[in-house]
Amino acid sequence: MKIKYKEPKDNRINAKRPFWKEFLIIWSVMLICCSGAVLIFNKQLSIHDNPWMMVLANGSYVIFMGLVVSLITRWLSYTAFTRPIIGIRQAARKVAGGDFTVRVLSQRKDDKKDELEVLIEDFNKMVEELATIETLKGDFIANISHEIKTPLAIIQSYAFALRKDELPKEKKQDYIETILEASQKLATLVSDILRLNKLESQEIVKMETYSLDEQLRCCILALDDRFNEKNLELVVDLEEVNVTTDANLLEIVWNNLLTNAIKFTEPNGTISVKLKVLQGKAVIKIKDTGCGMSNETSRHVFDRFYQGDTSHSAEGNGLGLALVSRVIDLIEGDIGVESEVGKGTTFSVSIKL
Ligand SMILES: Nc1ncnc2c1ncn2[C@@H]1O[C@H](COP(=O)(O)OP(=O)(O)OP(=O)(O)O)[C@@H](O)[C@H]1O
Ligand SMILES: [Mg+2]
Repeated sequence: MKIKYKEPKDNRINAKRPFWKEFLIIWSVMLICCSGAVLIFNKQLSIHDNPWMMVLANGSYVIFMGLVVSLITRWLSYTAFTRPIIGIRQAARKVAGGDFTVRVLSQRKDDKKDELEVLIEDFNKMVEELATIETLKGDFIANISHEIKTPLAIIQSYAFALRKDELPKEKKQDYIETILEASQKLATLVSDILRLNKLESQEIVKMETYSLDEQLRCCILALDDRFNEKNLELVVDLEEVNVTTDANLLEIVWNNLLTNAIKFTEPNGTISVKLKVLQGKAVIKIKDTGCGMSNETSRHVFDRFYQGDTSHSAEGNGLGLALVSRVIDLIEGDIGVESEVGKGTTFSVSIKL
């Protein structure tokens, strides 16, 4: 089978090598060689009239000129290709060794770009991306270690305290409750990390057509106890809408947004859930009258392990909205947040119909 390789046009390349320049260089070299040969040939002819001497002189001349031309082309190809490629090769070796600070310098004095310059630009961009991924990975591991250390330390110190025989019964019960809470937090952390990891590597979503309003109603019902615990008023206004997307993934979104709304709203507050069709999209708004967020917090809520400075930051691990954001990416939807400190927060999700 013959594979045709079609090079896509790269608009960044603006330094063209005109054909006439190459022709002019080759023509000049050939002219010098031929003129030299004619001059030597004529001189030999007039002095010796000896064909063997002519062959010897011309042979030496051809060898000498061949050497000169080879050296010139070798030098040209060295400066134009070999030298920059050596630079890229050395940089690539350093990157392979884990050094993401290396960059290859531009080879041209003017601001124009040829194929090599574009290759250098792409190489530098690739190293920059790798450095970002490496930093994220490092931060992620540091965050996990920190999040695991805190509940583990609690479990350890309370378990030690429980070993004392003279501890009153009520205190013992308190300590056991604390250990159970900490272990529950650990279990949630591990399952959230595993879920996030799975979602990060997932590319395909399971498409099915189902009633979105029904799904929202079920999620709200499942959290009924938590709404009642805080005596929260619930306003539900759902248009009947069918969507074609991954129902299991979307359930993660609703559960996280609703639990956040409950968690960050003071008792007797109000939470409203609205679903409408706007410009070919299902738009879901989950609004609460809770503590709200500063602009700084709103900017970071979708980052992994990020928790705003609220009295509830001890609850949870800051992974809920990171999961939500990944799901929204996967189903090619949109999510936005509007919030005001002390007034409340509205999360808006839109899904293509
Ligand atoms: N409805 C909301 N009102 C006020 N702040 C919110 C709201 N939703 C999220 N936040 C802020 O965003 C942060 C990140 O939310 P996220 O859901 O990712 O983590 P979490 O709820 O703290 O923990 P987890 O979801 O892992 O249990 C929260 O800690 C909080 O500061
Ligand atoms: Mg949450």
